[in-house]
Amino acid sequence: MKFVADKPIGTEVWQSVLEAGRWAPSAFNEQPWRFVWASRQQPEQFNRVISLLSEYNQQWACDAQILMVVIASEKLARNGKPNPHAWYDTGMSVSQMVIQALSFGIQAHQMGGFDAEKARALLGIPEGYQPICVVAFGYPDALENVLPQFRERAVTVRSRKPLTEVFFQGNFGQAAD
Ligand SMILES: Cc1cc2nc3c(=O)[nH]c(=O)nc-3n(C[C@H](O)[C@H](O)[C@H](O)COP(=O)(O)O)c2cc1C
Repeated sequence: MKFVADKPIGTEVWQSVLEAGRWAPSAFNEQPWRFVWASRQQPEQFNRVISLLSEYNQQWACDAQILMVVIASEKLARNGKPNPHAWYDTGMSVSQMVIQALSFGIQAHQMGGFDAEKARALLGIPEGYQPICVVAFGYPDALENVLPQFRERAVTVRSRKPLTEVFFQGNFGQAAD
């Protein structure tokens, strides 16, 4: 959890990351995702997004190159009814950006630890649009530069539930043959 603070993300590379997010599939092709991003090259915008983050997240996210607020439009543009897939679709758009960024060696770190109501107020997010999380993008720094309080987390072996706990065959709870 440490970004190289003085290694900017090039414009073309960033554009390619955004394209990957733009091309995500969505229910009814509604494309309910919206994003407000801020670059550290523009400190006023950048610091505004930093101010939305929890104190914990501010400690490491302050070295990011780009901070992106992820927002979902919660109503279907086609009929004004609630869009039950809005968060799913928006997550998929983010996922595509995360993978595209990674292909350039850029790390993306998502954060639920932020103040959504403050985001609404500071970034002018209208009613009907829900801020969901913030993503920090940047090039990963060497372990020796990680702040002491994050070092243990940085060296902990990544883990996930076993396949058999989350993938079932045929029926819920049923292990594959
Ligand atoms: C929606 C979402 C919210 C998250 N919120 C935070 C956060 O506020 N702060 C943080 O340090 N990490 C946050 N994370 C990162 C997760 O803690 C991390 O992905 C998880 O612990 C697994 O670690 P790994 O991705 O390194 O394997 C978040 C991840 C997601 C997808």
